Amino acid sequence: MTVQVAVLASGRGSNFKAIADAIGAGRCDAEIKVLITNNPDAPAIQIARDGGIPVEIVERKKFKARDDMDDAILAILQRHGAKLVVLAGYMLILKGKKLLGAYRNRIINIHPALLPAFPGATAQKDAFDYGVKVSGVTIHLVDETLDAGPILYQEAVDISDCRSAEETAAKILKVEHSAYAKVVDSFSKGHYTVEGRRATYVRD
Ligand code: GRF
Repeated sequence: MTVQVAVLASGRGSNFKAIADAIGAGRCDAEIKVLITNNPDAPAIQIARDGGIPVEIVERKKFKARDDMDDAILAILQRHGAKLVVLAGYMLILKGKKLLGAYRNRIINIHPALLPAFPGATAQKDAFDYGVKVSGVTIHLVDETLDAGPILYQEAVDISDCRSAEETAAKILKVEHSAYAKVVDSFSKGHYTVEGRRATYVRD
């Protein structure tokens, strides 16, 4: 069954666009109900407008506490009927207990490295600088931890031929785009249960 998705993005929005394009091409059984961003200048906003997707801007400075901000996001998610929350370059950590509770096992994030290697915001550069020959993409559930929720999907990327951090990021990004649409699509046919660190896919 088509899954109703909310995308949270803070910047460029190429993963958001890749998912929207995959939906348009019939490769991903999902409907993007809303784009939520904390950044009023995010290029992702134009992508949403071009695709006729509603945009909600939720700025950090409008709220005293982070919990209040995440409560506002939760209200938007519910108003738009989101069943799955897709973080695509969302640069704030979701902290609201109500939000994390309401969407338990239904918030996903993409990370441009093979976690638990190279967590954090500079994963591709860190992998390149370290000299690893294989890095990749991780898609994981979002919980109270940082970049450490149960892993749903990983794909390795050979970066041995990359000559810079930028080349590394570009090669990984291509794989992010196909991988994220695949995982979003999986939510249209099933869900994930979690035991300890292990996420298991269950077909509905
Ligand atoms: C991606 O590399 C993603 O893995 C990371 O942030 C970047 C977002 O890129 N979490 P974009 O905004 O989707 O183009």
